[in-house]
Amino acid sequence: MISGATLVAGVVGNPIAHSMSPALHNSWLAAAGIDGVYVPFRVTPERFGDFVVALRGASVTGLNVTLPFKGQALELADRASDRASMAGAANVLVFQADGTIFADNTDGLGLLAAFAEQAPGFDPTAGPVAILGAGGGARGAAAAFTAAGCPQVRIVNRTQAKAQAITDVLGGEAFGLHRAAVAFEGVIAVVNATSAGLAGEGDLDVPLEATPSGAVVMDMVYKPLVTPFLARARALERRTVDGLAMLIGQAVPSFEAFYGRPPPREADVRALALKILERS
Ligand code: ATR
Repeated sequence: MISGATLVAGVVGNPIAHSMSPALHNSWLAAAGIDGVYVPFRVTPERFGDFVVALRGASVTGLNVTLPFKGQALELADRASDRASMAGAANVLVFQADGTIFADNTDGLGLLAAFAEQAPGFDPTAGPVAILGAGGGARGAAAAFTAAGCPQVRIVNRTQAKAQAITDVLGGEAFGLHRAAVAFEGVIAVVNATSAGLAGEGDLDVPLEATPSGAVVMDMVYKPLVTPFLARARALERRTVDGLAMLIGQAVPSFEAFYGRPPPREADVRALALKILERS
């Protein structure tokens, strides 16, 4: 039931129709008995700034921000967490009653939560990690591993200059995709943060067999849940982590930012998300 006191939060992006966030958050709200609602907002790129500014004053408690607005969201905020500044992007905006906007980034927390859940015992401080791609997702992952004490982050990208642009800011080492085998030497994890492997797209052609047998392989893409990349990793008997665990992992602290308490543990939002993925 929506009442006059209902707290409103949501997710903004373009496109947004396939976002899983409304299902996750509304399922948690119902399970927690919170008088709140979480809605999708599709906004055109030219209107994004106006849209966010118009919400100053907490008419809406907060927003998740998804593609292609995460960089702009950070720029529009009055204050930002260190992790959002480091990632160069915000996936959470919180509207304060005094009219200011606070930006945060929970994608990195989601990434590390996904490893903790699906690769128990994984220790980000134990060795170098390789991240494939050099877009926002890759930069966020690099920031998260660096902040978690990873001794070296290696960015591997088709366009090496873009990888270099990240390591110039965050440290680590940049590689072209053709040198992936070198970048994989001695890693404890490989994260695919490219868009390759998205439903209908081809696999990323990298020699996963060059990773140590104990390396954990993760893909940020969750549709399909087992991407061709993860399937190859499994065939090599590497432990794998899927993108859905990261999606849920970033939603947990987002929920807390919007509604003031953590989501109820008893709601099985992964099962719900898997059902939605099956149907779509
Ligand atoms: P994000 O969504 O994380 O912001 P993006 O800016 O869309 O990402 O960038 C996508 C990344 O996937 C890029 O690093 C891109 O490589 P380039 O920088 O060389 O363009 C990478 N990418 C996409 N498709 C790819 C493919 N088929 N093979 C290799 N890399 C690919």
